[in-house]
Amino acid sequence: MNILKEKNWIESYCGEVGDLLKNSKVQEMKNYPHHGKISTHFHSVYVSYIVYKASVKMGADARSIVRASLLHDLYLYDWHTTKHEEKHAWYHPKAAVKNIEKYKVSDLTPMQRDMILSHMWPLHKTPPNSVGGFLLTWADKYCADRELLYHAKGFIPVYNEILRRGEN
Ligand SMILES: [Fe+2]
Ligand SMILES: [Fe+2]
Repeated sequence: MNILKEKNWIESYCGEVGDLLKNSKVQEMKNYPHHGKISTHFHSVYVSYIVYKASVKMGADARSIVRASLLHDLYLYDWHTTKHEEKHAWYHPKAAVKNIEKYKVSDLTPMQRDMILSHMWPLHKTPPNSVGGFLLTWADKYCADRELLYHAKGFIPVYNEILRRGEN
């Protein structure tokens, strides 16, 4: 990604999620490895940035969609070492919703709640019930594949610029 071409996108993205980027629970995601050496925080910013651009271009409710997308993996544990009664793939979307509510990170509309809970579709039987939900499930898999293949490097300058603008 060309950082100069992304300037306006970065600015408007930070305008929608700036309060979330400053939130200590969102920043805590930097401590947890998600795919390989990539943190859950990097993954969540990467996914939500791609979803944001797509939802603006589609004329969808970009603000609601990008905010839920940034929070979709707010499960706050290292899934490699912390085990639960259910497998991580099934458990973590529910943990994310619980944490968002418990720590009052953001209010969630029914649409945003559904986006987060259904983001593992089609592993989950119930598909998302909104455009934003489908965008999130698509971007989540696209970014995860790129992360696993070590191709997410191109997003690093954009990520750093988002942190510089959004966290201050
Ligand atoms: Fe996830
Ligand atoms: Fe994810």
